[in-house]
Amino acid sequence: MIVVTGGAGFIGGNFVLDWLAGRDEPVINLDKLTYAGNMETLATLRDDPRHIFVKGDIGDSALVGELLVRHQPRAIINFAAESHVDRSISSPEDFIQTNIVGTFRLLEAVRAYWNSLPSPASGRGAGGEGVDQAAFRFLHVSTDEVYGSLAPGEAAFTETHRYEPNSPYSASKAASDHLVRAYHHTYGLPVLTTNCSNNYGPCHFPEKLIPLMIVNALAGKPLPVYGDGMQVRDWLYVKDHCSAIRRVLEAGKSGEVYNVGGWNEKPNIAIVNIVCDLLDELRPRSDGKHYREQISYVKDRPGHDRRYAIDAGKIQRELGWTPAETFETGIRKTVLWYLAHAEWVAHVQSGVYRDWVDAHYAGVTAA
Ligand code: NAD
Ligand code: DAU
Repeated sequence: MIVVTGGAGFIGGNFVLDWLAGRDEPVINLDKLTYAGNMETLATLRDDPRHIFVKGDIGDSALVGELLVRHQPRAIINFAAESHVDRSISSPEDFIQTNIVGTFRLLEAVRAYWNSLPSPASGRGAGGEGVDQAAFRFLHVSTDEVYGSLAPGEAAFTETHRYEPNSPYSASKAASDHLVRAYHHTYGLPVLTTNCSNNYGPCHFPEKLIPLMIVNALAGKPLPVYGDGMQVRDWLYVKDHCSAIRRVLEAGKSGEVYNVGGWNEKPNIAIVNIVCDLLDELRPRSDGKHYREQISYVKDRPGHDRRYAIDAGKIQRELGWTPAETFETGIRKTVLWYLAHAEWVAHVQSGVYRDWVDAHYAGVTAA
């Protein structure tokens, strides 16, 4: 049994689906269902007894503590977060609450649970199939944004790069990384941290660059490119991020940090052009014009980081992980997925979805 937090979001949702496609070990999925959490992503698991969904907050220590004691998981993978940089600029409060305070409360509940597990020192063996302190893992999913911005030509981020977060989002993630690190050094909690580059793929909420461009292009809307469009991001197909997390959980050394990336730096404008060209091929505009004509340069994001790049050498050398997709194969799969899932897009963008969440989970917090 494992616990996944934020498993109705983009990466957590893909992780839960991939996990249960490959093994029978059940998943408790704890998610607050914010605007970014979508049960639609998990529709194929609706009647699957291996998936136990709990609507709740990682900051609800009583709920988390009760879940841990009841289900005795061998691992917790923490995806839950506020994740959108633009939202962190316009309203940072939720980022502080979930990413910092929420992670702290989660760690406290996990520490209490971990202390209750059998350990060699206590003379109590795990026995049978039960989990013990040595086998337990808390895996914290984090971001390359904690390292700040790189100059052109500067070496890619390694795990020892200084922390220099620049947005309220990255500062809140940096704080959570430090808390996780401190709980290992101070209390001995067996933790793993992954810092990953930009993900893309199925079920990505259409507020982020790639899905927003696909959805806007198809709707005949402008494609807003911030500033000069020459900011560089390092892109990784979401299923490859999920395989990296599984590998780190399986073989990562407690207390270690692993950077995850696809060696795939591209300026934003190149990404937008690639998306436009794929749509020209796969769903040509009815007026015969090119989607690139919809590109519109707009005011830049305040404090916009110029370049991110991940050195994924450590996870490759030590754990043998490499991505399966190139950007070319991954972006084609992504565009095809959005073309085939117009209903998912309409649903997650609609107020109807929010109304359903509110009605369905009224007064319910635990399964
Ligand atoms: P997302 O915004 O798509 O999903 C976040 C999920 O967390 C949602 O389902 C939401 O309902 C849930 N959630 C939010 N607050 C919660 C709370 N207080 N309690 C319980 N659940 C809560 O995010 P994502 O893109 O899937 O990112 C997942 C994690 O990966 C985040 O920690 C993010 O920082 C990290 N990350 C993301 C990327 C990326 O490119 N998207 C890259 C590197 C790391
Ligand atoms: O690097 C990892 C991070 O990647 C994750 O930690 C974050 O959770 C995730 O949201 C993502 O952050 P970014 O800010 O890089 O992603 P976003 O899709 O918002 O933007 C990607 C780039 O595209 C960035 O340079 C801003 C630019 N952009 C974005 C949007 C939404 C535009 O030019 N136009 C847009 O409309």
